[in-house]
Amino acid sequence: MEQQPRVVLGVGGGIAAYKACELLRRLTESGHEVRVVPTASALHFVGAATWSALSGAPVATEVWDDVHEVPHVRIGQRAALVVIAPATADVLARAAGGRADDLLTNVLLTARCPVVFAPAMHTEMWEPPAPQENVATLRRRGCVVVEPAVGRLTGVDTGKGRLPDPEALFEICRRVLDRGPRALDTDLAGRHVVISAGGTREPLDPVRYLGNRSSGKQGYALARTAVARGARVTLVAANTALPDPAGADVVRVGTAEELRGAVLKAAADADAVVMAAAVADFRPAARAGQKIKKRDGQDPEPVALVRNPDVLAELSAARPVPGQIVVGFAAETENVLANGRAKLARKGCDLLVVNQVGDGLAFGTEENEAVIIEAAGGETAVPHGPKEALADRVWDAVVRHWPV
Ligand code: CTP
Repeated sequence: MEQQPRVVLGVGGGIAAYKACELLRRLTESGHEVRVVPTASALHFVGAATWSALSGAPVATEVWDDVHEVPHVRIGQRAALVVIAPATADVLARAAGGRADDLLTNVLLTARCPVVFAPAMHTEMWEPPAPQENVATLRRRGCVVVEPAVGRLTGVDTGKGRLPDPEALFEICRRVLDRGPRALDTDLAGRHVVISAGGTREPLDPVRYLGNRSSGKQGYALARTAVARGARVTLVAANTALPDPAGADVVRVGTAEELRGAVLKAAADADAVVMAAAVADFRPAARAGQKIKKRDGQDPEPVALVRNPDVLAELSAARPVPGQIVVGFAAETENVLANGRAKLARKGCDLLVVNQVGDGLAFGTEENEAVIIEAAGGETAVPHGPKEALADRVWDAVVRHWPV
């Protein structure tokens, strides 16, 4: 197998350490040489023998082992990526404080490569100001901090604090490594970005709705790439059937009205808002309380529609944060560029990603092709390719538009 870049897997002392074994397997099976650096407390959960057997390398927690090899400097120097999973409140605090009191923190100080923290802890330990400020500090310095997932915690508790699935963490590592030297430039670090994805459904009665064919894949690609570039991500997902992207806060909504509420709330402290969702322009004027029945010999009642609020136009006018960038998407079936320019002006956003839809293009597919139009006049054509490639070009354009 082709040798892949070297990875350091730091493991903090939390129960989720057992999931790091699976992450380690995925990394080694895809050809990476992995050096595991657990903290002393991590070894209470998973022993050194396991880490050593799975990585095929020696395992130490302190700087006093193999001193002649100067491991506290070498391990970090040689790494192409350091990923810490789980990152406990204690590891976050020591990393943010620049401590060098065990091998892992020494590695963090000497590494010149991208660093990904995947915090996991009880909600009560995650929420207080101290860990939150440590996370903000690490993000500001360019580290990728993956938001914990929501769900079952140790014991009977549930809440935010779960380590995302190893497969999802592996994907984040792969994406960061794929960016190569650019990964160090975690240009979304310290930024909060909001993305809407999917398609809204406007109920006619308890079982029927007016909807559209948006799968949410482009919005999810935007969320995944933003996480890998270091952003704090809020994903407002309308009726998608996709697994939550690791590291994003996901808010699920149904109707345009619900989407509006969730997006405006998250936008209050956002540096960028990307409206990739297909929002229904109209909704039924009335929603029947019971299922609408057909009646023999009678024509159906026409469905009266009313306008939904235009969330993109509202966001573009509001701008609660100075320098906030608002991005729209436009799905057009003809005169793509001319319609796009007119829509950009009408909505008042900074950037509009215009793609052609219909006949199997864009909706539900893995690939996309678009032109990113700038209010200032510029245009970037993004050739046919994966939705993640388009997502990266959108973030490039957003970064260019942020005031320096
Ligand atoms: N959008 C929105 N609120 C709406 C409708 C659309 O925020 N009620 C946003 C979409 O998320 C997308 C952009 O506006 O970013 C473009 O939506 P589109 O439906 O293509 O534009 P319309 O204004 O509906 O134009 P047209 O009727 O010409 O298709």
